[in-house]
Amino acid sequence: MPESETDPVDVVRRGYDALSLRYRADDANPGRYGPWIAELLAVLKVASRVLDLGCGCGVPVARDLVAAGHRVTGVDISDVQIQRARRLVPGATFRRADASSRRLPPGSFEAVVALYSMIHMPLAAQPALLRAVASWLVEDGLLLLSAGWSEWTGSDDGWLGSETPMWWSHADVATYRQWLTQAGFTVLRQEFVPEGDGGHSLFWARRTTPLYDGVSPRERRYRDS
Ligand SMILES: C[S@@+](CC[C@H](N)C(=O)[O-])C[C@H]1O[C@@H](n2cnc3c(N)ncnc32)[C@H](O)[C@@H]1O
Repeated sequence: MPESETDPVDVVRRGYDALSLRYRADDANPGRYGPWIAELLAVLKVASRVLDLGCGCGVPVARDLVAAGHRVTGVDISDVQIQRARRLVPGATFRRADASSRRLPPGSFEAVVALYSMIHMPLAAQPALLRAVASWLVEDGLLLLSAGWSEWTGSDDGWLGSETPMWWSHADVATYRQWLTQAGFTVLRQEFVPEGDGGHSLFWARRTTPLYDGVSPRERRYRDS
């Protein structure tokens, strides 16, 4: 069997290429995302730069943030998700890329949103991605992250009633909390979001630890003066 058929990252990419529409309709309501988006809109400064990591088809998060005047960049590994996002949310910028290897300039976003996307990435890559996300945020930048509640890695050979396989990998909530702290975030709030027999964690966190060598830019300026 070719490696691309068993590599989990490729399984996820092909899975969302096939299931994009089944996962989310063009005109989907915010549903459970409604209160999260409302809270984001309440705290974001005017015209904030927001990175939507694993943005899917751009609905509802990028769509609703752009409608409120924010400057949204979406990244997703699936070609189909990105094609739909470009059509559905023309006011945002979308890039097709693997988020776990994406390089972005430090301090380039006021907020990063990663809903139900990190849980599709190899566990070993997730702490490094959280550190990268911290570096992409301005000081005090906000992260809204869906992650695991219980530890689990596995697949479903016919996800969403299809014949398409899908793959997930996540740690438990305490581990994500630790990874966030180690990456330089202060967790503002942690929620349990029920789904079926289980559920996911939702973290609201701020990047409080400075980027460089544990020395804040403010302190660095003071030391250098
Ligand atoms: C469950 S969907 C969530 C989409 C959107 N964030 C939402 O909540 O509606 C997960 C998305 O993450 C994307 N994704 C998974 N692994 C990724 C990776 N390594 N890099 C970028 N995107 C990824 C998938 O293609 C998919 O669109």
